[in-house]
Amino acid sequence: MKTKAAVVHTVGKPMEIEELDLDGPGDGEVLIRFTHAGLCHSDLHVVTGDLPARLPMVLGHEGAGVVEEVGTGVTRVKPGDQVVCSFIPNCGTCRWCATGQQAICDMGATILEGYLPGDRWPISGPAGKYGAACMLGTFSQYGVIHQNSAVAVDADIPLDKAVLVGCGVPTGWGSAVNAAAVKPGETVIVVGIGGIGINAVQGARYAGAKNLIAVDPLENKREKALELGATHAVASAEEATALAMELTRGVGADKGIITTGLVTEPQVTTTFHSISKGGTVVITGLNRLDINNIQLPATILTLFKKTVKGSLFGDCNPTTDIPKILGLYQSGDIKLDEIITRTYRLDQVNEGYEDLEAGKNIRGVIVHEHE
Ligand SMILES: NC(=O)c1ccc[n+]([C@@H]2O[C@H](COP(=O)([O-])OP(=O)(O)OC[C@H]3O[C@@H](n4cnc5c(N)ncnc54)[C@H](O)[C@@H]3O)[C@@H](O)[C@H]2O)c1
Ligand SMILES: [Zn+2]
Ligand SMILES: [Zn+2]
Repeated sequence: MKTKAAVVHTVGKPMEIEELDLDGPGDGEVLIRFTHAGLCHSDLHVVTGDLPARLPMVLGHEGAGVVEEVGTGVTRVKPGDQVVCSFIPNCGTCRWCATGQQAICDMGATILEGYLPGDRWPISGPAGKYGAACMLGTFSQYGVIHQNSAVAVDADIPLDKAVLVGCGVPTGWGSAVNAAAVKPGETVIVVGIGGIGINAVQGARYAGAKNLIAVDPLENKREKALELGATHAVASAEEATALAMELTRGVGADKGIITTGLVTEPQVTTTFHSISKGGTVVITGLNRLDINNIQLPATILTLFKKTVKGSLFGDCNPTTDIPKILGLYQSGDIKLDEIITRTYRLDQVNEGYEDLEAGKNIRGVIVHEHE
């Protein structure tokens, strides 16, 4: 069949909308009609070359849709199911899945090449074989994905909101709840309030942070953070450090979570010095693979027993955490409607990323059209 998709052919060039050919679903695979796709900064890292991906690639890794058809051996979903896509697949049996760490499942090894197990490339077109970002490629009307990337959700879940639970919400929420393990009464700093950071704010609030300091140079971001549970909002990590010291009588924050679009050495260093003895810095945002953006005094790390750690997918287990988070949305404990700033058509995808770069959106969402 044919599908219209947004493709990056060359690093640094805008995405191109192309009509591509899509195979039917093979063994273990699912044909999905994508209804919505979220505009996450990670796709932009592929466009800019921060994340070196095999090109051409159909971008988009935050997505939701409806199962149209399943291949042989598919047991996780059936035609007609509503699905939220997990940006890392989970096999269930590798060492990481088997120990409750689905976010680092070995199947994720090919997310930057974008083919499915067995060297399967379901998408083709004028430039040959096309990969799909995170083995999903949600900036396409239709996709063939592996069943291990599909999480079925209840029929009464609105996909136009649930789409964010494919990446941004669990990544941010889990960065606070799982990776930082925020506890009631703690002081928490979240640096960078985009689609990830706003959900770190929501997670830290839900986990009981007493002082929750949101950091973003942009006023619209700070306002949204205050609306969704931050107790303070400041423009820079330096101001957050001073405020955390003041609020804790010089002890420092318990947790710092870095969710900026490009994580830099000064952000990491400042956040490191803002946390107390025994405190934790979680780094969730990305930058170029080859930059050493952690430059820290290890002796202070040791003498103050501090922890600096990375987090992928908020250390979530998508098969259980995606439904859990959607349940918290239905009970009003996690807000999704409030964090979608604007919707776009597929052919407006580059405009969507211009808006992200200009800081206009908490999250932008593509609403797919099918004739
Ligand atoms: N680890 C993971 O599993 C994972 C998953 C998804 C996204 N990410 C990464 O997380 C990062 C954030 O993604 P996003 O979609 O929320 O991006 P975004 O561009 O929507 O938001 C980033 C925010 O950081 C702010 N910012 C920039 N410089 C800042 C500074 N010096 N201090 C404070 N705030 C600053 C921006 O104003 C913006 O509001 C990206 O690098 C993305 O690739 C990681
Ligand atoms: Zn993402
Ligand atoms: Zn696995």
